[in-house]
Amino acid sequence: MDKPYGLLAELTYACPLQCAYCSNPLELDAYRDELSTEEWQRVFTEAAELGVLQLHLSGGEPLQRHDIVDLVQCATDLGLYTNLITSGLGLSTRRAEQLREAGLDHVQLSIQADERDLSDKIAGTISFERKQVAARLVKQLGWPLTLNVVLHRENIDRIGGILDMAVAMEADRIELANTQYAGWAGHNRDELLPSRDQLERAEAVVREARERLGDKMEIIYVIPDYYSKYPKPCMDGWASRQFTVVPNGEALPCPAAHELARALDIPPANVREHPLEWIWEEAPLFQQYRGDAWMPDPCRSCDRKEIDFGGCRCQAFALTGDAARTDPVCHLSPDHGLVEAAVEAANDPMRPQDGSLTPRSKVIRTKKRAT
Ligand code: SF4
Ligand code: FES
Repeated sequence: MDKPYGLLAELTYACPLQCAYCSNPLELDAYRDELSTEEWQRVFTEAAELGVLQLHLSGGEPLQRHDIVDLVQCATDLGLYTNLITSGLGLSTRRAEQLREAGLDHVQLSIQADERDLSDKIAGTISFERKQVAARLVKQLGWPLTLNVVLHRENIDRIGGILDMAVAMEADRIELANTQYAGWAGHNRDELLPSRDQLERAEAVVREARERLGDKMEIIYVIPDYYSKYPKPCMDGWASRQFTVVPNGEALPCPAAHELARALDIPPANVREHPLEWIWEEAPLFQQYRGDAWMPDPCRSCDRKEIDFGGCRCQAFALTGDAARTDPVCHLSPDHGLVEAAVEAANDPMRPQDGSLTPRSKVIRTKKRAT
C-alpha cells in the first residue's frame, strides 16, 4: 500500500454560497460538531507523519473558520504545501495578508460565470464583484491563481467569456470541469447535465483558446463522464493516493463518499477515535474497495481495470444503490441504461438550452446551511 500524498481537509460546511452543484452532503446536521483548532492541528501533524505532502483546505467555505490563519501556520510549520479552495468571500485584505504571512502557498478561487447576474444567480448570493476583488488581491500578494469553474447546462455556453475573464484576472491556471453528480449536484443532475450540442460548442472554444493562449494560462477541461465510453479513474482508485477529513472528523477515501459510507454496515473512521495511520492502513471503509478483489464482472475480467479501477464508487452507489457495481457510465456496465436515459433527457429537443430553468432555484431554497 502506498502512502497518501494529499489530504483534503473540509474544515466546515458553512458557506455563504448556495450553488446547485455543491458536492456537500444533502443533510448537514451530522457535520455541525466541527473539529476544534487543536484537533485539526493534530490531524495535520499525523498527516505529515503519514507522508502527506499537499493539504487542500476546503469546505463549504474554509474562510468561515475563525482559525484559518492558525491552521495554515500549523501546516506551514509541518512543511505541507497548502492550497486554499475558496469562493473568495471572506478574503479581506487583512486576512489575505495574514494568510500570506502564515505561509499559504496557493489559492484556488471558484468562479460561476463571467456576467454579474448569471454568476450571482448560480451562486445564490451576490458575490460576483467580491470574487473580482479577491482575484486581484491574490495576484497583488503574489500567489499563483487557479480559477475553478464548475460547468453545467446553465453556464457552459459562457465558456468563451469565462476564459476572457480569466485572462483579464491574470489567472495562471483555469480548471473548467463539468459537474460530478455527487451531493447536491446529484440531486440536481437533470437540471445541470448539458446537451451534446453545448459540449461540442464548448470544446471548440477551449481548443481555440488553448491555441491562442499557449503557455500564458494553463487550461484544464473535463467533460462530463456521462458522455464518455469509459468512466474516469476516480480518485486514482479507492484509498490509493489521497483522502478527505470532513468537518466532524470522519475520514473518507473520497470527498463525495458520505452517503455511501453510511450505507455500508461498517463503523465510520473518525479522527477523534483513531490515528490517521490506522485509518489509512486498516479502517474497514478504506479497505472496502481498495485494489481489485471487490470487483464484479465485467470489471473483474476487463483489461482496463488497472486504468480506471472500475470507475467511481460514489456514482455506482448513487445510481444503483450498490457501490460495488461497475460504474454505470461504462458502456460495458449492465446498468449503463441509467446513464443513457439521463443523456437522452438532456438532449430532448423540447428542453430549453438557455439555462433559464426554474426547478433549480426551488431546490436551492431547501438547502440547509451549517451556521
Ligand atoms: Fe473500467 Fe470496469 Fe468498464 Fe472495464 S468494465 S472499462 S474496468 S468500468
Ligand atoms: Fe467518490 Fe468517485 S466520487 S469514488
